[in-house]
Amino acid sequence: MEPGPGVEYRQFEGLPDGKVLADLLRLHELVFGAGEADRMLREARNRHRLLTLVALAGQQVVGYKIGYERKPGHFYSWVGAVAPGFRRRGIASELMRRQHAWCREQGYGTIRTATKNKWRDMLILNLRHGFDIIGVYVDQQGEPKLILEKRLPR
Ligand SMILES: CC(C)(COP(=O)(O)OP(=O)(O)OC[C@H]1O[C@@H](n2cnc3c(N)ncnc32)[C@H](O)[C@@H]1OP(=O)(O)O)[C@@H](O)C(=O)NCCC(=O)NCCS
Repeated sequence: MEPGPGVEYRQFEGLPDGKVLADLLRLHELVFGAGEADRMLREARNRHRLLTLVALAGQQVVGYKIGYERKPGHFYSWVGAVAPGFRRRGIASELMRRQHAWCREQGYGTIRTATKNKWRDMLILNLRHGFDIIGVYVDQQGEPKLILEKRLPR
Protein backbone atom coordinates (compact mmCIF):
# COMPACT_ATOMS: atom_id res chain seq x y z
CA MET A 1 0.00 0.00 0.00
CA GLU A 2 1.13 3.58 -0.71
CA PRO A 3 2.44 5.46 2.35
CA GLY A 4 -0.54 7.11 3.93
CA PRO A 5 -3.42 4.74 3.05
CA GLY A 6 -5.79 6.44 0.60
CA VAL A 7 -3.17 9.00 -0.34
CA GLU A 8 -2.41 9.60 -4.02
CA TYR A 9 0.77 11.24 -5.33
CA ARG A 10 1.10 13.57 -8.31
CA GLN A 11 4.07 15.23 -9.96
CA PHE A 12 4.20 18.53 -11.88
CA GLU A 13 7.08 20.07 -13.79
CA GLY A 14 6.69 23.71 -12.69
CA LEU A 15 3.89 24.60 -10.29
CA PRO A 16 0.45 22.98 -10.51
CA ASP A 17 -2.52 25.22 -11.29
CA GLY A 18 -6.18 25.53 -10.33
CA LYS A 19 -7.41 23.87 -7.16
CA VAL A 20 -4.20 21.93 -6.54
CA LEU A 21 -2.17 25.16 -6.48
CA ALA A 22 -4.77 26.97 -4.35
CA ASP A 23 -4.77 24.10 -1.83
CA LEU A 24 -0.99 23.91 -1.79
CA LEU A 25 -0.70 27.65 -1.08
CA ARG A 26 -3.28 27.39 1.71
CA LEU A 27 -1.31 24.57 3.34
CA HIS A 28 1.94 26.53 2.86
CA GLU A 29 0.45 29.55 4.72
CA LEU A 30 -1.01 27.35 7.43
CA VAL A 31 2.44 25.91 8.17
CA PHE A 32 4.76 28.86 7.41
CA GLY A 33 2.53 31.88 8.10
CA ALA A 34 0.47 34.58 6.39
CA GLY A 35 2.08 36.27 3.38
CA GLU A 36 4.39 33.32 2.69
CA ALA A 37 2.36 32.10 -0.31
CA ASP A 38 2.98 35.31 -2.29
CA ARG A 39 6.64 35.22 -1.38
CA MET A 40 6.92 31.64 -2.58
CA LEU A 41 5.14 32.40 -5.88
CA ARG A 42 7.45 35.35 -6.54
CA GLU A 43 10.56 33.30 -5.88
CA ALA A 44 9.29 30.30 -7.88
CA ARG A 45 9.09 32.47 -11.03
CA ASN A 46 12.86 32.91 -11.09
CA ARG A 47 13.67 29.24 -10.70
CA HIS A 48 14.76 26.81 -13.35
CA ARG A 49 13.40 23.24 -13.75
CA LEU A 50 11.02 23.45 -10.82
CA LEU A 51 9.50 20.13 -9.73
CA THR A 52 6.42 19.98 -7.49
CA LEU A 53 5.23 16.78 -5.84
CA VAL A 54 1.89 16.68 -4.08
CA ALA A 55 0.08 14.17 -1.87
CA LEU A 56 -3.72 14.19 -2.19
CA ALA A 57 -6.26 12.67 0.19
CA GLY A 58 -9.62 12.73 -1.56
CA GLN A 59 -9.30 15.91 -3.60
CA GLN A 60 -7.34 17.73 -0.87
CA VAL A 61 -3.62 18.54 -0.91
CA VAL A 62 -2.22 17.13 2.33
CA GLY A 63 1.48 17.37 1.48
CA TYR A 64 3.84 18.94 -1.04
CA LYS A 65 7.52 19.23 -1.84
CA ILE A 66 9.06 21.69 -4.28
CA GLY A 67 12.59 21.86 -5.64
CA TYR A 68 14.54 23.28 -8.57
CA GLU A 69 17.87 23.10 -10.34
CA ARG A 70 20.56 24.91 -8.35
CA LYS A 71 23.15 24.55 -11.10
CA PRO A 72 23.67 21.91 -13.78
CA GLY A 73 23.74 18.46 -12.16
CA HIS A 74 22.70 19.84 -8.74
CA PHE A 75 19.13 19.99 -7.46
CA TYR A 76 17.86 22.08 -4.52
CA SER A 77 14.99 20.75 -2.40
CA TRP A 78 13.42 24.06 -1.49
CA VAL A 79 10.28 23.76 0.58
CA GLY A 80 7.62 21.32 1.69
CA ALA A 81 5.15 20.38 4.38
CA VAL A 82 2.55 17.84 5.39
CA ALA A 83 -0.80 18.89 6.88
CA PRO A 84 -0.78 18.48 10.68
CA GLY A 85 -3.51 15.81 10.70
CA PHE A 86 -1.59 13.66 8.20
CA ARG A 87 1.88 13.57 9.76
CA ARG A 88 3.85 10.47 10.80
CA ARG A 89 2.28 8.32 8.09
CA GLY A 90 5.26 8.33 5.78
CA ILE A 91 3.92 11.03 3.40
CA ALA A 92 6.99 13.32 3.54
CA SER A 93 9.24 10.28 3.10
CA GLU A 94 7.31 9.20 0.02
CA LEU A 95 7.42 12.73 -1.46
CA MET A 96 11.18 12.72 -0.90
CA ARG A 97 11.59 9.26 -2.42
CA ARG A 98 9.73 10.40 -5.55
CA GLN A 99 11.71 13.65 -5.77
CA HIS A 100 14.99 11.74 -5.56
CA ALA A 101 13.85 9.16 -8.15
CA TRP A 102 12.96 11.98 -10.58
CA CYS A 103 16.30 13.70 -9.93
CA ARG A 104 18.20 10.48 -10.63
CA GLU A 105 16.26 9.92 -13.85
CA GLN A 106 17.07 13.49 -14.90
CA GLY A 107 20.79 12.97 -14.24
CA TYR A 108 21.23 15.07 -11.07
CA GLY A 109 24.14 13.90 -8.92
CA THR A 110 23.44 15.78 -5.68
CA ILE A 111 20.51 17.26 -3.81
CA ARG A 112 21.03 20.12 -1.42
CA THR A 113 18.59 21.49 1.13
CA ALA A 114 18.66 23.97 4.02
CA THR A 115 16.75 24.03 7.26
CA LYS A 116 16.69 25.55 10.73
CA ASN A 117 16.61 24.05 14.19
CA LYS A 118 12.96 25.10 14.49
CA TRP A 119 12.08 22.77 11.57
CA ARG A 120 13.41 19.89 13.61
CA ASP A 121 11.10 17.22 12.14
CA MET A 122 12.40 18.02 8.66
CA LEU A 123 15.99 17.98 9.91
CA ILE A 124 15.46 14.50 11.41
CA LEU A 125 13.71 13.31 8.27
CA ASN A 126 16.59 14.56 6.08
CA LEU A 127 19.23 12.94 8.28
CA ARG A 128 17.29 9.66 8.24
CA HIS A 129 17.20 9.80 4.45
CA GLY A 130 20.96 10.06 4.08
CA PHE A 131 21.64 13.82 3.97
CA ASP A 132 24.87 15.07 5.56
CA ILE A 133 25.23 18.47 7.20
CA ILE A 134 27.81 20.31 5.08
CA GLY A 135 27.66 23.81 6.54
CA VAL A 136 25.96 26.29 8.84
CA TYR A 137 25.48 30.05 8.55
CA VAL A 138 23.53 32.65 10.50
CA ASP A 139 20.68 34.15 8.45
CA GLN A 140 19.25 37.70 8.49
CA GLN A 141 17.00 36.82 11.44
CA GLY A 142 20.07 35.75 13.41
CA GLU A 143 19.08 32.08 13.25
CA PRO A 144 21.52 29.31 12.34
CA LYS A 145 20.70 27.74 8.98
CA LEU A 146 21.93 24.23 8.34
CA ILE A 147 22.95 23.21 4.82
CA LEU A 148 22.51 19.54 4.00
CA GLU A 149 23.50 17.58 0.95
CA LYS A 150 22.98 14.07 -0.37
CA ARG A 151 24.73 12.38 -3.28
CA LEU A 152 22.39 10.35 -5.44
CA PRO A 153 23.50 6.86 -6.37
CA ARG A 154 24.23 6.54 -10.11
C1 LIG B 1 8.70 17.66 8.37
C2 LIG B 1 7.38 17.10 7.87
C3 LIG B 1 7.23 17.46 6.38
C4 LIG B 1 7.40 15.57 8.05
O1 LIG B 1 6.22 15.03 7.44
P1 LIG B 1 5.67 13.56 7.77
O2 LIG B 1 4.82 13.14 6.62
O3 LIG B 1 5.09 13.57 9.12
O4 LIG B 1 7.02 12.72 7.78
P2 LIG B 1 7.13 11.12 7.71
O5 LIG B 1 5.90 10.49 8.26
O6 LIG B 1 7.54 10.73 6.34
O7 LIG B 1 8.32 10.90 8.74
C5 LIG B 1 9.46 10.18 8.39
C6 LIG B 1 10.44 10.16 9.53
O8 LIG B 1 10.88 11.47 9.84
C7 LIG B 1 11.09 11.56 11.27
N1 LIG B 1 10.11 12.46 11.86
C8 LIG B 1 9.06 13.07 11.23
N2 LIG B 1 8.36 13.82 12.12
C9 LIG B 1 8.98 13.67 13.32
C10 LIG B 1 8.72 14.17 14.64
N3 LIG B 1 7.67 14.95 14.90
N4 LIG B 1 9.58 13.80 15.63
C11 LIG B 1 10.61 12.99 15.39
N5 LIG B 1 10.89 12.46 14.17
C12 LIG B 1 10.10 12.81 13.16
C13 LIG B 1 10.88 10.17 11.81
O9 LIG B 1 12.10 9.52 11.72
C14 LIG B 1 9.88 9.62 10.81
O10 LIG B 1 9.87 8.22 10.72
P3 LIG B 1 8.94 7.35 11.72
O11 LIG B 1 7.56 7.97 11.69
O12 LIG B 1 9.01 6.00 11.12
O13 LIG B 1 9.59 7.49 13.05
C15 LIG B 1 6.18 17.67 8.67
O14 LIG B 1 6.40 17.44 10.04
C16 LIG B 1 5.98 19.17 8.46
O15 LIG B 1 5.30 19.57 7.51
N6 LIG B 1 6.57 19.97 9.37
C17 LIG B 1 6.44 21.43 9.30
C18 LIG B 1 7.05 22.01 8.07
C19 LIG B 1 8.52 21.80 7.92
O16 LIG B 1 9.25 21.58 8.88
N7 LIG B 1 8.95 21.93 6.68
C20 LIG B 1 10.35 21.94 6.38
C21 LIG B 1 10.88 23.33 6.48
S1 LIG B 1 12.48 23.39 5.79
